Amino acid sequence: MPDHSYQVLDPATFDPAETARAEFAEHVLVGLSETPKHLSSRFIYDATGSDLFEQITELREYYPTRCEFEVLRAHADAILDPLKGASFNLIDLGAGDGRKTVVLLQRALERGMDVHYAPIDISEGAMAGLVSTMGRRMPTLTIEGIVSEYGHGVRWIGQQADRANLVLFLGSNIGNFDRSGSRAFLRRLWSALNPDDHVLVGFDLKKDIEVLLAAYNDREGVTARFNKNLLARINQDLDADFDLDQFRHFSTYNVFSGAMESYLVSLARQTVHVGGLEAEFEFAPWEPVHTEYSYKYLDSDIDRMCAHGGFVDEGRFYDANRWFCDALWRVAR
Ligand code: AVJ
Repeated sequence: MPDHSYQVLDPATFDPAETARAEFAEHVLVGLSETPKHLSSRFIYDATGSDLFEQITELREYYPTRCEFEVLRAHADAILDPLKGASFNLIDLGAGDGRKTVVLLQRALERGMDVHYAPIDISEGAMAGLVSTMGRRMPTLTIEGIVSEYGHGVRWIGQQADRANLVLFLGSNIGNFDRSGSRAFLRRLWSALNPDDHVLVGFDLKKDIEVLLAAYNDREGVTARFNKNLLARINQDLDADFDLDQFRHFSTYNVFSGAMESYLVSLARQTVHVGGLEAEFEFAPWEPVHTEYSYKYLDSDIDRMCAHGGFVDEGRFYDANRWFCDALWRVAR
């Protein structure tokens, strides 16, 4: 008898490491087959990429991390006030090394608040480091780390209903989404949360274009290495033969879209073989690969995103230069 049947595939039974590799492979295949070519910055963050980003945050030219530190130090109490008396999860989406979050956590512990720390990060290397450093620095703190990209992270958040939640989305990580992507992300986050939960979203503000250009084109070339880590990762994980010296990091400000846009530009005619995809890709001289958006915001953009997401504005906190803003929103239903 021929087989007449069907099965419902349960993605939960797939091997997570293999699923991640397959997603990366599919992404590279699709992105490098497009005209113009593109790759997503979310794939920069393996252990090396996360490490390079931490080096970026130490650069003189890269102001956002320093500015946001200033904001959190100056306004920790105001940010934590809405959670007074509650037992709450401090959920850190895209936690990285968690250095900025320490400011809020330490203040919360000093105030005797009942805080549970839940960092979520796509890099397992970064998470292992984070959990061990934080555990050493704050031995009384409960830490439950989740290694996941944002989509699944938000779904995990949807299951945390036993306590109040304060979700941190710091560092202008939201700027990697385009305008419609950031609206979709915030709407999904709203839907995963309970009424009166809070989110604190970091926004890099529009400012002198020279300051923006310098921040994404540092003198030491750390940002160039960070961007090229996408190619290094394709070499490593998908058995490719990109020559990193045959590509130039280029980052420019698009005044109309309001984003810093990063590219890798081919310096020569070249053919790249990607063994893991059984495919080759041709690059013409000066052909670009788009790799990253870093959107910059006006106060009026933040107003609109708050309202569209279904949130209520509970306060905006700025550094002295007004280069960066952390916006505190409450979930309204
Ligand atoms: C971590 C995504 C906020 O877009 O500014 C730094 C990453 N890219 N330099 C940013 C990044 C180039 C950063 N985010």
